[in-house]
Amino acid sequence: MIKKGIILAGGLGTRMGPLSKAVNKQLFPIYDKPLIFYPLSILMLAGIKDILIIVNKGQLSQFKKILPNGENLGIKISYAQQEFPGGLPEAFIIGEKFIGKSKVALILGDNFFYGQSLTAKLKNCVKLTSGAKVFLHPVNNPSLYGVIKLNKNKKIQKIEEKPKRYLSNLAITGLYFFDNNVIKYSKILKPSKRKEIEIVDLLKKYNKKRKLSAELIGRGGAWLDAGSI
Ligand code: TTP
Repeated sequence: MIKKGIILAGGLGTRMGPLSKAVNKQLFPIYDKPLIFYPLSILMLAGIKDILIIVNKGQLSQFKKILPNGENLGIKISYAQQEFPGGLPEAFIIGEKFIGKSKVALILGDNFFYGQSLTAKLKNCVKLTSGAKVFLHPVNNPSLYGVIKLNKNKKIQKIEEKPKRYLSNLAITGLYFFDNNVIKYSKILKPSKRKEIEIVDLLKKYNKKRKLSAELIGRGGAWLDAGSI
């Protein structure tokens, strides 16, 4: 059972500028709550109560005012800082001590999920015994996302980051479940052209070993990468 989760809530937020210059986008309001409450609630729905929030260096006090230690929510929140947004898998390097020998879920602080059968699916995902699992959702513009092609048996055929040629319309969302190998694999990733270590490269490592599986949010579900206005 996965009992630990990380929310990656740093990033430059350039697409939200100039709003995001002084305040991190994950603290912007979505209706009556800061954005970060929504991914936090997804981890809580999955039954995860031990949560590490990774924030940009220098922004810790902003987050701690809103989400101190989780006691009021019946969970445990701890914090770590990221020096510079060097890529999503850095979560597992920064969070190595927090993860320890456990398995871990990762959710991006600007990802919004909604779905009728989501809770049941999340509860199923945390049962992961080994390997990794991603959450997929169909999008209209797959060339902007990491994309996965599934075969008829819902097995992963191919993964590609921002495919120029149509591969599939199933985008890899910002919710992932990993076994403990994730720390080891993340440490050996090489930075891409944009000088970040890439989650797609990490997923490819799992897929090569046939250890990657996928779950769909499902019909009627919604996923928003709330990284732009
Ligand atoms: P992105 O939306 O890819 O990046 P960003 O937040 O910097 O936005 P922009 O492209 O507009 O500059 O990041 C996805 C999420 O992951 C977001 O919640 C920020 C977070 N993130 C980190 O915390 N650290 C990182 O190193 C990266 C790459 C992202």
